[in-house]
Amino acid sequence: MAKRIDVSGLNAYYGAHKAIDDISMTIEPRSVTAFIGPSGCGKSTFLRTLNRMHEVTPGGRVEGKVLLDDENLYGAGVDPVAVRRTVGMVFQRPNPFPTMSIFDNVAAGLRLNGKYRKSELKDIVERSLKGANLWNEVKDRLNKPGSGLSGGQQQRLCIARAIAVEPQVLLMDEPCSALDPISTLAIEDLIGELKERFTIVIVTHNMQQAARVSDRTAFFNLAAVGKPGKLIEIDETERIFSNPSVQATEDYISGRFG
Ligand SMILES: Nc1ncnc2c1ncn2[C@@H]1O[C@H](COP(=O)(O)OP(=O)(O)OP(=O)(O)O)[C@@H](O)[C@H]1O
Ligand SMILES: [Mg+2]
Repeated sequence: MAKRIDVSGLNAYYGAHKAIDDISMTIEPRSVTAFIGPSGCGKSTFLRTLNRMHEVTPGGRVEGKVLLDDENLYGAGVDPVAVRRTVGMVFQRPNPFPTMSIFDNVAAGLRLNGKYRKSELKDIVERSLKGANLWNEVKDRLNKPGSGLSGGQQQRLCIARAIAVEPQVLLMDEPCSALDPISTLAIEDLIGELKERFTIVIVTHNMQQAARVSDRTAFFNLAAVGKPGKLIEIDETERIFSNPSVQATEDYISGRFG
């Protein structure tokens, strides 16, 4: 199920402003890749090009290729809605549908995608909540609103919603930045479990988190304010944090800038 991502020569723009320049990288299936780098270097923008969300922003434009196994997501005739189903996304702020029940939050994507029998839906919702390590905390209140959960629980609810439709890739943009340390560890543990089934990319400003959860780390940087962000290097996480190839990476991870 999990797929390899192969990016080549990717540029992304907001109108005339080029936000990221000529990015190429390969992301292996069943692995976690962390994106790190200073604010504004294009991590979120690049992440959103991996499921065709970038072009939803007014003026948003992409050049280059993103292959999922062998299919170019930007190829002619590819349906962006289908791409977003295959490549799921979890955002920085947990965003459950506030008026929907916990059950309906998880079922929402499934209902959009097709017809399921009631019993099938129940099974998938249960499996997804278990997959997100939330089932035990909510099984007795599935009909209560999702907004009544704690922040960490809401984020796990959003992860349950994302995995319910069985994506092949899961993109996470700073999924723990609004969470307390305990919820953060719960999400990190969960990421460790989910990588058995999905290809995972996580943006984080937390260097310890990148070191804890990821197999590989990509460091992005800006040459100067107003210039597009570039990929500086990508390597095994252990290597990036012990002996990176580029001085700027070393400076960033040791807190000398950014
Ligand atoms: N909707 C938008 N319209 C115009 N420019 C944007 C938009 N979103 C982002 N940008 C610009 O694109 C560049 C990259 O932004 P992006 O949000 O991808 O950075 P980031 O690395 O995720 O930063 P952070 O760590 O602060 O989240 C920045 O110069 C930013 O101002
Ligand atoms: Mg960002």
